Amino acid sequence: MSSNPSISELARAYSAGKKLDIGTRLPGPKGTRVMGVMREFNRDPLGFIDRLQRDYGDIVWSRFLYVPALFLYHPNEIESVLTTNAKNFRKAMTLRSNFFQRLVGNGLLTSEGNEWKRQRRLLNPAFHRERVATYATTMVDYTKRLTANWRHGEMRDMHREMMRLTLEIVVRCLFSADVSHDVDHVGETLSEMVKPFASQATLKWILNNRLPTPEHIRFHRLARKIDRVVYRIISERRASGKDEGDLLSMLLAAHDEDGSGMNDQQLRDEVMTLFLAGHETTALTLAWSWYLLGENPEAEKRFHAELDEVLGDRDATFANLSRLKYTERIVKESMRLYPPAYGLGREAINDCEIGGYHVPPGTQVFMFQWTTHRDARFFAEPLRFKPERWTAEFEAQLPKYAYFPFGAGPRVCIGASFAMMEMILVLATIGQRFHLRLDPNHLVETYPAMSLRPKAGVKVTVARRRV
Ligand code: HEM
Repeated sequence: MSSNPSISELARAYSAGKKLDIGTRLPGPKGTRVMGVMREFNRDPLGFIDRLQRDYGDIVWSRFLYVPALFLYHPNEIESVLTTNAKNFRKAMTLRSNFFQRLVGNGLLTSEGNEWKRQRRLLNPAFHRERVATYATTMVDYTKRLTANWRHGEMRDMHREMMRLTLEIVVRCLFSADVSHDVDHVGETLSEMVKPFASQATLKWILNNRLPTPEHIRFHRLARKIDRVVYRIISERRASGKDEGDLLSMLLAAHDEDGSGMNDQQLRDEVMTLFLAGHETTALTLAWSWYLLGENPEAEKRFHAELDEVLGDRDATFANLSRLKYTERIVKESMRLYPPAYGLGREAINDCEIGGYHVPPGTQVFMFQWTTHRDARFFAEPLRFKPERWTAEFEAQLPKYAYFPFGAGPRVCIGASFAMMEMILVLATIGQRFHLRLDPNHLVETYPAMSLRPKAGVKVTVARRRV
């Protein structure tokens, strides 16, 4: 096994003309001498990754600047990287930028090795199904609060509405007992901070993060502001010693076998990680679901019929989830067609083999939910929105890694049950009360930033149904 070369070693090897043997064996576009395929990728990321598979097959080699990149499209290879061989991979280099470091530090999303293992062990109980069930009422209450201001016939942007709602929900689930004004500011400040994520210039922004541009100065100022609030809440909660039944109490109570818990810095990093990982993805699935329902009146009819039958005029509860089957299928189908995390990245630590090819350390390996979820080998009529395809029989025969909206293997999303419950409850609570009609003059397009957004939102007219 060779030792793991740094990116600068790879750069030196590349500029010295040393061949990385991966490039000599695997098919793929070379791109330009300096940029590799960076420009093509940035111009149209989704079109580019689809094209690569069409032109070169399920395993494609290429290069971003001097960094070798491997694109995997088949469930077998995806399984090998995410699960079978997971130990030989760490998160891709973009996630190790100092931008992410400042935002979420060494939280669960970004940490590696033993540190990640320990944190995952400590956080797991907070995300067990029974624990997550206690947040159902908050989710429904906040949805009702949001829609209380909606008026029949008015226009709403469901992307914006869902972003606001899921942020409020995650803030409340973390800090239920802290009703101070500060807590509301955490949400606002966070939205401001992550704005650069929304831009396609994210990579450039991240790489230049050390430069004192006005945007970066602003970012660091907001980061200090949010830190002050989060640290204050942590110290007050430690002092009170009370279990408030929220995520923060769970994190504070978490202890390893040797009795050690998390220090303030770790708590802060996990809180920020949960903010960041826990709201935009959920909001996007909801926004895309409203779009898809608007485009598919038959599916919307079945959705409303299920809500009428299971809920009538009563508020949705955790106990109703098992009967809201069609609603759950809408969520699954929406994440198939518009996966909020549309791609995953890893970096090979040691030499390894993927699909019979030798892969040297330092290679960035990418897997795209966007393309694999739309692969006709696994999904009949792949571009059609068909929630009814998600029967138990269909799921049983589907190759496990053909559908991976929450990732897979040891680094699978810890918040998957939380997110599923939230999405079903929010859809049900709104669907009970309103029909949402897409604005015919507004074009909904994909915008692959950090996650897969609707470019200019999802504009709808709201029409009251009942309740
Ligand atoms: C539709 C909603 C969501 C989607 C599509 C989603 C997707 C993902 C994916 C794909 C990963 C794996 C990343 C990788 O392997 O590199 C991940 C990890 C993670 N997610 Fe989610 N997520 C969602 C909601 C949530 C929520 C609600 C929370 C928390 C409240 C959350 C917290 C996390 C954390 C902490 C990780 C890192 C886990 C680890 O590495 O151990 N996510 N998520």
